[in-house]
Amino acid sequence: MSILLCPSMMCANFESLGNEVASLDEANIDVYHIDIMDGRFVPNFGMGLQDLEFIRSHTSKLVDVHLMIDNPSSYIDLFCEKGADIIYFHPEADTHPTRTIDRIHAHNVNAGIALNPGTSIAHVEPLLGLVEYVLVMTVNPGFAGQKYLAYVNDKIKTLNEFKQRHQLEFMIVVDGAISEDKIAELIPFGVEGYVLGTSTLFGKEESYSSIIKRLKY
Ligand code: DX5
Ligand code: ZN
Repeated sequence: MSILLCPSMMCANFESLGNEVASLDEANIDVYHIDIMDGRFVPNFGMGLQDLEFIRSHTSKLVDVHLMIDNPSSYIDLFCEKGADIIYFHPEADTHPTRTIDRIHAHNVNAGIALNPGTSIAHVEPLLGLVEYVLVMTVNPGFAGQKYLAYVNDKIKTLNEFKQRHQLEFMIVVDGAISEDKIAELIPFGVEGYVLGTSTLFGKEESYSSIIKRLKY
């Protein structure tokens, strides 16, 4: 199974975002992961619209936007117009997630739901047949450099079993404290996408190309 490698750009070296994108393009990453935060849904602020516009204009690779914000439905049009190829929103922050999924699809953008560590699969079952991606948070959202929450593994297994049982097409992606060991551990659970931050990719002595080459199973 080929896996998607998704650099979490909030962890990039902002001294030169242009060089970062050029190096990651050269390393042949799959999807740029842009974390947007509002200081309410999560107690932090991530990247901004200008960062998204810059990255969008400097690559032909896929760009995803992870909305860690309250009331995401109000901002779908904005992020679609800024060029997102995939939009992840948290159903925990949305009174009508099915309407929000429709809104994303109306822009011909792929829809994903992002699940907090405390959100059960049962809670979102009605949405799983409607989306192209499910982003399983393996840390409490909002900050890089945290510890992996091992109790989420059971949820990943439950999600994969549900997907197989119902023959659904969504891709399982994990986000948070994903190390190289974790990737090897999670591939058998049906995880096909990995958000890579400080645990694997950024702030290392090794080049992005060398790390990504090793991770391309
Ligand atoms: C978590 C963020 C990710 C990720 C960063 O809210 O969405 O950017 O955790 O990677 P790590 O956890 O490896 O620093
Ligand atoms: Zn994220």
